Parts: sequence; structure tokens; C-alpha cells
Amino acid sequence: MSMAHIKIDETWSFSDKKRADTGYLTHDFHRYPAKFIPQIDGRLIETYSNQGDIVMDPFAGCGTTLVESKLNGRKSSGLDINPVATMITKAKTTPIHPDKLAKAFARLTKHIETYPNNYKTDIQHARLDFWFDKKTQNKLGHLLKAISRIRDKQVRTFFYCAFSNILKNCSIWMQKSNKPTRDFNKIPADPHVAFKRQANIMMKKAKDFYREAARRDILDIESVIHCADAKNCHMIGDESVDLIVTSPPYVTSYEYADLHQLSALWLGYTDDLKDFRKHFVGTASSQGEFDASELNADDPTTKTHAEKQKDSAKCCRLFCRYESNYQ
Ligand SMILES: C[S@@+](CC[C@H](N)C(=O)[O-])C[C@H]1O[C@@H](n2cnc3c(N)ncnc32)[C@H](O)[C@@H]1O
Repeated sequence: MSMAHIKIDETWSFSDKKRADTGYLTHDFHRYPAKFIPQIDGRLIETYSNQGDIVMDPFAGCGTTLVESKLNGRKSSGLDINPVATMITKAKTTPIHPDKLAKAFARLTKHIETYPNNYKTDIQHARLDFWFDKKTQNKLGHLLKAISRIRDKQVRTFFYCAFSNILKNCSIWMQKSNKPTRDFNKIPADPHVAFKRQANIMMKKAKDFYREAARRDILDIESVIHCADAKNCHMIGDESVDLIVTSPPYVTSYEYADLHQLSALWLGYTDDLKDFRKHFVGTASSQGEFDASELNADDPTTKTHAEKQKDSAKCCRLFCRYESNYQ
């Protein structure tokens, strides 16, 4: 599919946006490589769909499309093969009353403050020893146990998301590296300090999200995320969505399975990284199974290409390639 004839519209560039501009409401709950600039998503959704339409993202990542759909009054559904991504998406798309979060956080804080120094976690994995010292593992295991006891599923997912986002800082994973590289000179963050800080940042943003959702009367707009393989997905019926906004994986640029191994191991999504990698599109291990270039169009040098193919009033497909603002 050649797109050479399409004139580049620089108003889609958003190159002036800084992290502070793109991290509004829940967008910055968790780092995620190559996530959408939310302003692009928001504008696509506003332009190419109507209130009440269903927007779909088959490679949903950390759920930018679903969050923006909700904010714009659209129902949404998403797929991602990565359970860490779907956990983050759930946390980001679910408005939770701030009092519920505050209550659960007060209990977690108490749990942290009464940490017994001789505590030994029963969560064991050789790969955890590779990334974390024992003292850190014990604190993380103790904290995770308390989060897993939170009865309200939505609140529990919110704090799993906070937990997941501190793991890199608490490990010897090289700072700012998107490859699994150890840095033996790094001083890992203390899990208690890091978690309290992360939870406080997220609770503030969650409060704004809840208020904004209430103000826009979108609290109950449906956002559904499935942990599933986009190559082989039967739960999305033909003609069942009005708009697709997606950004497929860049071939071999990001090994999402490797990148999220800390969260996947701690949260029990896998104990076998080789198996975990198998179904991801665009990884070195799955090359050849799926031609992502077919979706990505053909020019990675320009900031945005968007093509809309409107076959009928009910069905439109839109694929977009953009420069990533990964964090
Ligand atoms: C470029 S990222 C999408 C980021 C997303 N636009 C966002 O804003 O967070 C591509 C996503 O495709 C997912 N993925 C890879 N293989 C997949 C598959 N077979 N089925 C569904 N999702 C897959 C990866 O886990 C990754 O989250």
C-alpha cells in the first residue's frame, strides 16, 4: 500500500508536546514503550467517530485509545497479548471514587510501617535473583501480599499498577534502558518509599480523572480490554466496531515480553519467559508470522500518516504511524 500521494499535514505532528503535556489524567500511570501521544488518539477519535460509537484498538498497549475514547464519550474495546498491558489499561480506564483509594492506601501504609525486618517472601524465581537483591525482594513480596488481599478488584488492580511501575527503579535494570541490561553500580530504590510516592502521584491523577469523568457524565461508558492475540481473535464480531485506531508493534524494535518481565514475574503472569515471548508480534522470536508492514504503511520517516478507508457509514478503518514518545 503506497502512501506517497498523501500530503503531510503538519498539524498532526504534536512534536512540541512534552511529557507533562501527554501525561494528563491517567495517561502517565505506567511507563510503556512507544505509547500513543494521547492528543493524536483524541483527535482521531473526535474526527472519525461520533458520541456513542465503538472504538477498537487491537494492539492496545497501555490503553491510550481506550482512555481517550472514554473521555470523548465513545465505548471502546481493546486487545493486547501482554497481560501487563491489559492490567495497566484496566487501571487507567476505570474511574474509582477517591475515598475508596484513600482507604485502601491507608491500610497499605500501615502494612508498610509495620514491616518485620526478618520477613522472608515466599515468591521465589531465579530471574528475580538476577534483578533484585534479597532485601528488596522481601519488601516487594510483603507489599504484594497486602495488595493481593484488597477485596475490591478495581482498587486492587489500581495498586498492582502502582506496584508494577516501581519495579524497574527497585531493580538493577539500567536506568532509561529499554533493553534488559543490568547496571551493577545502580542503587535500587527502596520499595516502600517508591511505592508510597507512586501511589500518591496516581491517586491525585485518579481523583482528577474521576471528577472529569463525572463532569462529562462518562463514568459508565464501557471500556473492555481483552488479553488476547490479535492474529487469532474471535471475540470481536464482523462490523461490530465503528473505528479502529491502532499502532501495531514495530518489528523487533521493542521486545515487550522482555521489557515487562519484572511485572510479569512478580504478578504471576508467567514463570517461563521463553513461553511468554511466543505470541508477541514483531519480536525476534515471532518474525515471519505476521507482516506488520502491511499495517504500518511504508514511510517511518514522517511524523504522521493517516489513511481513512470508509467502506460504509458503519465501517471505517484507520491506521496511523507516528514517531513514538516512549518513556
Ligand atoms: C506499539 S504498542 C501499542 C501502544 C499503544 N498504542 C499505547 O498507546 O499504549 C504495540 C502493542 O502490541 C502488542 N502486541 C504484540 N503482539 C500482539 C498480538 N499478537 N496480539 C495483540 N497484541 C500484541 C504489544 O504487547 C504492544 O503492547
